[in-house]
Amino acid sequence: MKNFDCEPTLTDTEVLDFCKKGFMLLESVVPEDINKLATEYADNNPGLEPIKLLETDWFVDNVILNKSSVGAVRSLLGSNLGLPHRVSNHRGDGAVPAQDWHNDGGSKYGPELNYLQVFYYPEGCVREMGPTELLPGSHFLFSPSSRMGHYGRIRGSYHAVCPPGSILITVYSIWHRRSEATMDGIRNNFKYNYWRTVSPTRDWIEEPGFDYASADYTAGSFPLALRRPSRDSRDAAEMFFWLSGIHDKYEWMGGQGWPMDVNDGIEYKPYGVPKGL
Ligand SMILES: [Fe+2]
Repeated sequence: MKNFDCEPTLTDTEVLDFCKKGFMLLESVVPEDINKLATEYADNNPGLEPIKLLETDWFVDNVILNKSSVGAVRSLLGSNLGLPHRVSNHRGDGAVPAQDWHNDGGSKYGPELNYLQVFYYPEGCVREMGPTELLPGSHFLFSPSSRMGHYGRIRGSYHAVCPPGSILITVYSIWHRRSEATMDGIRNNFKYNYWRTVSPTRDWIEEPGFDYASADYTAGSFPLALRRPSRDSRDAAEMFFWLSGIHDKYEWMGGQGWPMDVNDGIEYKPYGVPKGL
């Protein structure tokens, strides 16, 4: 395994947002000349595992070590992160029905975040080409793929429509699939993982005044349509505490207490704020 370190680029709010949704999309972060090289490589090597790319300088320097992407990964996985040892290309060809919903083999569930699943789209992906479809917040939901494949359209899903050179960073266990493609053409989608090598600690960009007790753990403007909002908030808060290295301080009373947001603009301290904060 190769290791790497750099400055983190995410703030408290962005790390917490990732805990809530289970993914983040970085649009057009890879330069166009590299996107062209990646597309040419895929056309000349259409196999599923283009492993030699991990020994190719232009790919490693601009995709695997892409400044925006690896800075975000560094924020989530800590210093001295483990670099991908495997790369796949999920290459779609032509109009096809949606893939079955699934999570990838090796998924674990809970507050720990020890590896990330990342996708790079050199040509981007329009809706008609079958972009990756994700269920926001589903990274906390255990279900074997054999029990979720039969679901069709699920309300609240997110289609990762994106311009060329975009990178999608996801919690490994998130429910996803390739959505239906309705037009001819090739869609390249390179997939690889990064790994944690150090214990979690809050060493991303700290926001002045950010307070764990009053932080917004609710889903906010994006839809999480799968569970009760209190359950989403509870799990996002626990992952955020774990990432911050203070999982031992995490407590959950339940009911309408912290971290559920029931203030409605009225200033009062909710019940259930962890005593150790
Ligand atoms: Fe998958």
